Amino acid sequence: PKVAVLMGGPSAEREVSLSSGRECAAALRGEGYEVVELDAGPDLSERLREISPDVVFNALHGRWGEDGCVQGMLEWLRLPYTHSGVLASALAMDKQRCKDVYRAAGLPVADSGLYRRDEVSARHVMAPPYVVKPNNEGSSVGIHIVHEATEAPPALGPEMPELVMVEAFAPGRELTVSVMGDRPLAVTDIITEGWYDYDAKYTPGGSRHVVPARIPPDVYDLCLDYALRAHRALGCRGLSRTDFRWDETRGTEGLVLLETNTQPGMTPTSLSPEQAAVSGLGFGKLCRWLVEDASC
Ligand code: DAL
Ligand code: MG
Repeated sequence: PKVAVLMGGPSAEREVSLSSGRECAAALRGEGYEVVELDAGPDLSERLREISPDVVFNALHGRWGEDGCVQGMLEWLRLPYTHSGVLASALAMDKQRCKDVYRAAGLPVADSGLYRRDEVSARHVMAPPYVVKPNNEGSSVGIHIVHEATEAPPALGPEMPELVMVEAFAPGRELTVSVMGDRPLAVTDIITEGWYDYDAKYTPGGSRHVVPARIPPDVYDLCLDYALRAHRALGCRGLSRTDFRWDETRGTEGLVLLETNTQPGMTPTSLSPEQAAVSGLGFGKLCRWLVEDASC
């Protein structure tokens, strides 16, 4: 079968996606697929019509590629594609609405709201500590943290969207769980000096991943359960990865969900491939499974 691997694209996570895409393309060739690598530009639908692949492997991250836009185009073209469909992608990418879905499913989240950029720059819209995030980007792009009331509110410029999410800062460790179909894979404990920001995510050695996480078994199992419930509540397909904060002083009560990534990173420093490996599934087999799971 012929697989078109979509990568790059115009989002803020373009470079991450190019890395994910190259890794997946190489792995799929190793699995015996005929692979065409496609940098997703404005001519994407024409290119896909020319190539006429059997399956589209979506290795895009961020806006347009992870938010339901490209998924809608692939539905229109009747091309089977990997990962989540239109609605799950759109819901998961909208951080505030994603949290509404979590809340409705009984999953724990930190308090948050959507605010205008100018309001957030003018005053503390919430008692610090809090975090300001673009409502629809990944990889910690555009995140501002306000630690104390004595700090000025963040000066948000036009690089931020008109509406931003402001979320109570959830202290603690950074945990993450990938779900493959109906199977949560493993919990990773992400250890960084300071904040798990863009550099820590993508610089080799920028963070240390302990997988399986050495945390109490009840917390470990609850993470697996919450990640599967989040995947189902959003209606995800294929692979997703749900990120958590865990305040270890509060046991199982200290766990909150941050977000679900419907196009989890597939770079050499990414988390889902490591979790699959711990579950006995190598990178090539993970990519093959995604292709076989594709639909439209
Ligand atoms: N947004 C990046 C790619 C991730 O969550 O892995
Ligand atoms: Mg993300």
